[in-house]
Amino acid sequence: MRIDIITVLPELLKSPFEASILKRAIEANLVEVHFHNLRDYTTDNYKTVDDYQFGGGAGMVMLIEPIDKCITKLQSERDYDDIIYMTPDGERLKQGTANQLSLKENLIILCGHYKGVDQRVRDKFITKEISIGDYVLSGGELGAAVLCDAVIRLIPGVLGNETSALTDSFQDNLLAPPIYTRPRSYQGMDVPEILFSGNFPEIEKWREEQAYLRTKERRPDLLDD
Ligand code: ADE
Repeated sequence: MRIDIITVLPELLKSPFEASILKRAIEANLVEVHFHNLRDYTTDNYKTVDDYQFGGGAGMVMLIEPIDKCITKLQSERDYDDIIYMTPDGERLKQGTANQLSLKENLIILCGHYKGVDQRVRDKFITKEISIGDYVLSGGELGAAVLCDAVIRLIPGVLGNETSALTDSFQDNLLAPPIYTRPRSYQGMDVPEILFSGNFPEIEKWREEQAYLRTKERRPDLLDD
């Protein structure tokens, strides 16, 4: 997979890709991530990427021209499966979207800033608009980092244990069950006996019940989906 991220603040985005699982995925050539600074696609001396809103109103709007130049150049080099715009008015990111995107070859992610981008960018180029939650960030970069993390960890070979993504929270619309490791007893708190029974079908049944109970208590909305 290849991900091209278009941003006015590449430095805000780089560090998540330089550590841990994302770094390993890049080093193992399971994913390529490229950053494109929008200011490199401007033509004026000031490297202008935004301007005042037509019709008045507070807040600047990102110009179509540098974004067009950047996306058009990328599209001349390869076909993209999706051109994603990070925005608080997009579709809320869920595990299902991450699963679908993890199967794609080439993605562009456009990070919004200020009030957002000129509507004509969205009309002309964008195929998917994603929000990471019902709150407003100062830019799309942190949202893009969250999206990339959620997607890249699902690419086959990225996680050490291939099955571990399948047992994550949300992968059956259920939260994950409680988990335990050593010691068996800590300051009077004991690990549930069933986990030492060696009866794996019973352990699996217990985990499913616990996942269901936890979901019912914390996120009953997931059970309606
Ligand atoms: N940009 C600003 N707020 C955002 C959000 N909640 N999700 C994605 N991108 C954003």
